[in-house]
Amino acid sequence: MKQPVSLTARLSLLFAASSAGVLLVAGLLFEHAGANQFLERDAVELYGKMEFIQNELLHITSPSSIETLPSRLHQIVLGHPGIAIIIADQNGKALFSTGPGRTLDYLSKLNWVNKLQPVTVQYADRTYRVIASRLNLGTIPAQTATVEIGLDISKNQNFLRSFKEFIWFGMVLAMMAMGWLGWVVVRKGLSPLYVLSETMENVSAQRLGTTIPALDSPRELQAVINSFNTMLSKLDDSFQRLSNFSSDIAHELRNPVHALMMQTQVTLSRERDITDYRDALQSNMEEFERLSRMISDMLFLAKADNQQLVPKREEIVLHDEIDRLIDYYCVLATDRGINLKKSGTATLIADKLMLQRALSNLLSNAIRFTPDGMTIEISVEESTEAIWISVTNPGPEIPAEHLSNIFERLYRVDAARREGGSDNIGLGLAITKSIVTIHGGTIDASSCNGLTRFNMIFPNSI
Ligand SMILES: Nc1ncnc2c1ncn2[C@@H]1O[C@H](COP(=O)(O)OP(=O)(O)OP(=O)(O)O)[C@@H](O)[C@H]1O
Ligand SMILES: [Mg+2]
Repeated sequence: MKQPVSLTARLSLLFAASSAGVLLVAGLLFEHAGANQFLERDAVELYGKMEFIQNELLHITSPSSIETLPSRLHQIVLGHPGIAIIIADQNGKALFSTGPGRTLDYLSKLNWVNKLQPVTVQYADRTYRVIASRLNLGTIPAQTATVEIGLDISKNQNFLRSFKEFIWFGMVLAMMAMGWLGWVVVRKGLSPLYVLSETMENVSAQRLGTTIPALDSPRELQAVINSFNTMLSKLDDSFQRLSNFSSDIAHELRNPVHALMMQTQVTLSRERDITDYRDALQSNMEEFERLSRMISDMLFLAKADNQQLVPKREEIVLHDEIDRLIDYYCVLATDRGINLKKSGTATLIADKLMLQRALSNLLSNAIRFTPDGMTIEISVEESTEAIWISVTNPGPEIPAEHLSNIFERLYRVDAARREGGSDNIGLGLAITKSIVTIHGGTIDASSCNGLTRFNMIFPNSI
């Protein structure tokens, strides 16, 4: 698999590339400025000489004075071995020429007269900057001469070339240096990240409770550390709950299994008649039922946790569904003189079996805690966004500190008292909550003024 590029390498490369870019632009500007400077200097020299020649030509007033040209122009040629000058009359006859070898022949064949700027030409292995003009001779009637001046600029060109090479070489060197420097700087700059990753590596399941101090870290990392700490504390919380849950579950399973074993041992300890065996089996059956209910409840919760439960989408007329539930609990409630009252209706899109289970958990709890002869209310309300189903019963209040925990698995307000008897293990509300959650709803509980109320809120998807 392709290894992802490290942050250090990425930043160092970016650093080197951007430095190279800056150096390249600077180098090109420098080179351009150098070339311009040379051009200007050459132009000044060439036009200076042209002016001088122009002056001298004005002194040519007769054919005989043409012969004085070499001595007159001697001065500008002096000390300039690379200069080439051609002065030709209107018929192309050379009046004066000086310069290295055949350069003159070559230059004279070209017509530069109308060029505004000096022209750069390559001849043999030399480079020339050339200007040309048509100038008046001082004769009457006016006669003109073509003057061409070529300046050998090979030296300057060589200098520019080696300067360019130097810049490129320097740029490669600087790029390498910048890359290395960038690597050092980035590693130093990212050192808090390495420290952080080491600290993170040391976090194990047993040390989820530890937090990483954010204050000493750079500001950019503080948000990451805070999120990591929050995640750790959530993980710690879940981990604790999970391990408590497994130990609770072992506890819950141990008691019925223990009771079953004892009962079977006692039954088998001596010969008994058939009725005793039947009674023992009957009692075992009840224990098995309880175990089976507990296991299927846990399985339901495990499936809900792993998103394996997909609720059906059925239209449920709540009014009818609550009636059916009241019918079911009627005998139990009437026995204790408890009145079951319902109000409101709505059509909810949900999984019918799951909704029955959720409502049934709430109602069975309510009946368990309602004092004899009092009334439990099941009410439905609807708005365009949501449908509320609430179950309210009078009875002992749930202390505020327990309210947020009662939806947790195996949680009972007073486990020692084993409220409701050995059948109630504290999974009912957890199941109700996961049913509401997988339908996209929420559940809350309140308990005050002698009334306990559970409120399920479903999104109204009609
Ligand atoms: N209507 C209520 N009034 C007072 N306390 C309640 C009420 N409903 C629930 N509780 C408290 O919340 C706890 C958790 O309820 P839950 O339904 O989850 O468990 P359970 O009824 O004890 O057991 P199970 O539902 O598994 O049979 C109960 O043990 C009880 O202490
Ligand atoms: Mg219950």
